[in-house]
Amino acid sequence: MVKVLVTGANGMLGQDLCPMLEDCDFVDEVIETDRHNLDITNEIEVNKVLNEYKPDYIIHCAAYTNVDKAETDLENAEKINVKGTENIAKAANKIDATLIYISTDYVFDGTKKSKYLPIDAPNPLNNYGLTKLHGEQAVQKYCKKYYITRTSWLYGHHGKNFIETMLKYGMEGKELKVVNDQFGCPTWTVGLSEGICDIIEENPDYGIYHICGSKETSWYEFAKEIFKQAGVDAKLFPCTTEEYPVPAKRPKYSVMENDGICEDWKVSLKKYLELRIN
Ligand SMILES: NC(=O)c1ccc[n+]([C@@H]2O[C@H](COP(=O)([O-])OP(=O)(O)OC[C@H]3O[C@@H](n4cnc5c(N)ncnc54)[C@H](OP(=O)(O)O)[C@@H]3O)[C@@H](O)[C@H]2O)c1
Repeated sequence: MVKVLVTGANGMLGQDLCPMLEDCDFVDEVIETDRHNLDITNEIEVNKVLNEYKPDYIIHCAAYTNVDKAETDLENAEKINVKGTENIAKAANKIDATLIYISTDYVFDGTKKSKYLPIDAPNPLNNYGLTKLHGEQAVQKYCKKYYITRTSWLYGHHGKNFIETMLKYGMEGKELKVVNDQFGCPTWTVGLSEGICDIIEENPDYGIYHICGSKETSWYEFAKEIFKQAGVDAKLFPCTTEEYPVPAKRPKYSVMENDGICEDWKVSLKKYLELRIN
């Protein structure tokens, strides 16, 4: 009898992950939680809910995810990404559950010249990356049975994402300048969910894993491929990071060696666009 509890179940990843877990024949029960029934920043509530359900696995998707806003809202980002994760990690340990914590490529500074490995030293450039890294450290400190799964450039049908932003402005005929000097791996929430299910089924050694789309690209090349596949004749132009200032500094190169998804990101993009509800 394998019971899985998901935090942040109403988020972009959670909404693709939960139905997939329901379909797994090695999972017997899925408990979906979000802010309204499990506020991860409330230690008493976290202990109460986890004690009540006693799940075998906790997939911790809940997070403060607004990268730019976190630059001026560090207090809330820390409260959710660090203190919230600490609450989950301590409570998971008490009930001997395995914790799967979703983390990010933004823990890296992007100065490496080859793909990032789980053993590479993190050095976040922005508050979001810093708080997610401190979340990782809380997981390692307080929980014996854990997987930290870092992912990158995530998109899914149930959330605001780069593809939808591009298509919206592209179809409106707006001129789009997209940065062509930041490189990473676009990842579909469905592929990441499959990788998470594999962890539960295969029980690899505890530790850090990178799960992201295969092959790297720049944001500009990603946008170009979106318009090509969607058949949209957009006014798209490449620009540099300096030409497109945003509050949070991003790594120039956050390509990760992949432990989870072998599918080319262009193939995942095609599937995403085919399933897209207009
Ligand atoms: N999106 C990306 O590009 C990306 C890249 C790398 C890693 N990740 C990681 O992947 C995970 C999933 O990301 P996502 O894109 O699915 O994020 P998301 O859509 O923003 O979902 C996060 C969820 O967490 C919930 N939440 C926030 N504070 C909470 C609290 N105090 N208690 C309980 N729930 C709370 C949010 O609820 P509200 O809506 O009510 O705030 C939301 O439903 C996160 O850990 C994120 O750091 C994301």
